[in-house]
Amino acid sequence: MEKIKVAVLVSGGGTNLGALIEAEKKGIIKSGKLSLVISNKVGAYALERAKAAGIEALTVTKAECGSQEAFEDRLIMELQSRGIELIVLAGFMAILSEKFTRAFDGRIINVHPSLIPSFCGKGFYGLRVHEAALEYGVKVTGATVHYVNEIPDGGKIILQKSVSIKEGDTPEVLQRRVMEKAEWIILPKACELVSKRLLSERV
Ligand code: GAR
Repeated sequence: MEKIKVAVLVSGGGTNLGALIEAEKKGIIKSGKLSLVISNKVGAYALERAKAAGIEALTVTKAECGSQEAFEDRLIMELQSRGIELIVLAGFMAILSEKFTRAFDGRIINVHPSLIPSFCGKGFYGLRVHEAALEYGVKVTGATVHYVNEIPDGGKIILQKSVSIKEGDTPEVLQRRVMEKAEWIILPKACELVSKRLLSERV
């Protein structure tokens, strides 16, 4: 069966990458093939998960490239030279310029650990998102998978799932619940949905 070549961009532990790998094994992702993992952080544990699953893994850092522009040009080169058709940002802690997002228009998705448009945009990433939700006192949070454009967390929403906040939650406890009950479920589903759409649009 023909499949869409998927790359996953990561920066850290890669539990969302782990969920994608599991979903491919289980056949939840069947229209896409996880083909490449790129980390912008040296030694990210996500790279080990990729290697253990037999997926090509690369590290590309802004420091080694010298500038944001050179970093993005290098990413574009690595992705295009392998014929990557869909890019999944899974805990990728770097903002991408319009040049990059235009190069893969409608082909980049991101998982964000809140119900967008709450607690999103510049400065809202990782634990900070959950700290902000707890500080505000919201009783429901969740995760969102959306298309990526030049506005941080600003692209069209693909899937969302809500998660309850409980009395006494810490940012760490809430982060784990949002991952388990929302992110690890909707990210693979969205990856399949978008891969399927891209397959149907192939000429
Ligand atoms: C996840 O919670 C993801 O939603 C978040 O970082 C964590 C990465 O975990 N991403 C952002 O905040 C992006 N704005 P992981 O490396 O274990 O998948």
